[in-house]
Amino acid sequence: MSAGRSVAFAGIARSFGAVQALRPTDLAVAAGEFLTLLGPSGSGKTTLLNIAAGYIAPSAGRVLIDGRDVTALPARQRNIGMVFQNYALFPHLTVAGNVAYGLKARGRPADEIARRIGDALALVQLDGLGERAISALSGGQQQRVALARALVIEPDVLLMDEPLGALDRQLRKHVQLEIRRLHREHGRTTIYVTHDQEEALVMSDRIGVMRDGRIAQLGTARELYENPIDSFVASFLGESNLLDGRLISVNHGRARLDVPGLGVVEGVAADGLEGMSDVAALVRPEDVAVEPARGGWPARIEEVVYLGDLTALKVRLANGQDIWCRRHARLGVPAGAVTIGWEAAAIRILPRSQPTKTEERTP
Ligand SMILES: Nc1ncnc2c1ncn2[C@@H]1O[C@H](COP(=O)(O)OP(=O)(O)O)[C@@H](O)[C@H]1O
Ligand SMILES: [Mg+2]
Repeated sequence: MSAGRSVAFAGIARSFGAVQALRPTDLAVAAGEFLTLLGPSGSGKTTLLNIAAGYIAPSAGRVLIDGRDVTALPARQRNIGMVFQNYALFPHLTVAGNVAYGLKARGRPADEIARRIGDALALVQLDGLGERAISALSGGQQQRVALARALVIEPDVLLMDEPLGALDRQLRKHVQLEIRRLHREHGRTTIYVTHDQEEALVMSDRIGVMRDGRIAQLGTARELYENPIDSFVASFLGESNLLDGRLISVNHGRARLDVPGLGVVEGVAADGLEGMSDVAALVRPEDVAVEPARGGWPARIEEVVYLGDLTALKVRLANGQDIWCRRHARLGVPAGAVTIGWEAAAIRILPRSQPTKTEERTP
């Protein structure tokens, strides 16, 4: 199978009437990279994929594959494989008929088609199921037919739009690892869309967090988790507690804010915080220490959730705000009144992002 090619979007934008589905966006995906677009429903993920595939024309900007401008090229001439959100299989065709579709459309000879169908079905571990009716397959098998259909044309770039959304959790994890294995083995450039943060963390080289038609932040999972640019990215990737407040000061990379009903909270200042007013302290659950009442913020344990290796505790602060924390189960749960605390070095002070009109936050 062919190795991957790079994909670049230069000033790509798209409107539908008054809706700006995608604001002017630059994005460079390296050859062989696995890039995930993560974002809530309506943030422009599908629009960007469809522009890459050639199913939707951009209102502005250019798409480049290996440096070549393909903006005006029809979908069929781009050698891009796409797996759609709802599989979009042909129900009246067999498994083999579905997988053959792209090869027939490209006028390949029958013996080559038969051989490549066999290879593609083996790749997704559906060997020998070519003559099955689509309706006789499970959801997971149908998903793999859709994957085989995209892979059989040996695409330069593989695009996947929430391909696992319809599967139950266990199957989703299984197919996730299978997609990861295929990527490792073939190094095919892949752009993967999901609104599931765990999926993004498991699969990606880099993640672009999308919001309101923009890529809010692009980076490795670690960069996004440890250094989110604002409270939206912080809340979209990983578990987070956000304490809203007013910025008091920024000094030598440290920031202080005043949290109503609580007082001064200190942490590491995110970039560009100077001069802002509405900020938030990001407190990750694993950084919260819960102790029997001593120094720190007085709190009350509201909920205890046993997670096997970890215990999640919901504690309520004096100002009524709830904070989730996670600790090793073997530490047990303190009885009675507690205080919570954290190291200032583990806390990020971030610009607070305002909700947008078009946003439907996905839980
Ligand atoms: N064909 C279309 N006509 C009108 N509005 C559209 C169309 N496609 C997408 N949109 C709008 O563009 C925005 C982005 O949509 P989409 O790219 O599908 O987001 P996502 O895939 O992140 O859920 C949404 O507000 C959506 O309603
Ligand atoms: Mg979508």
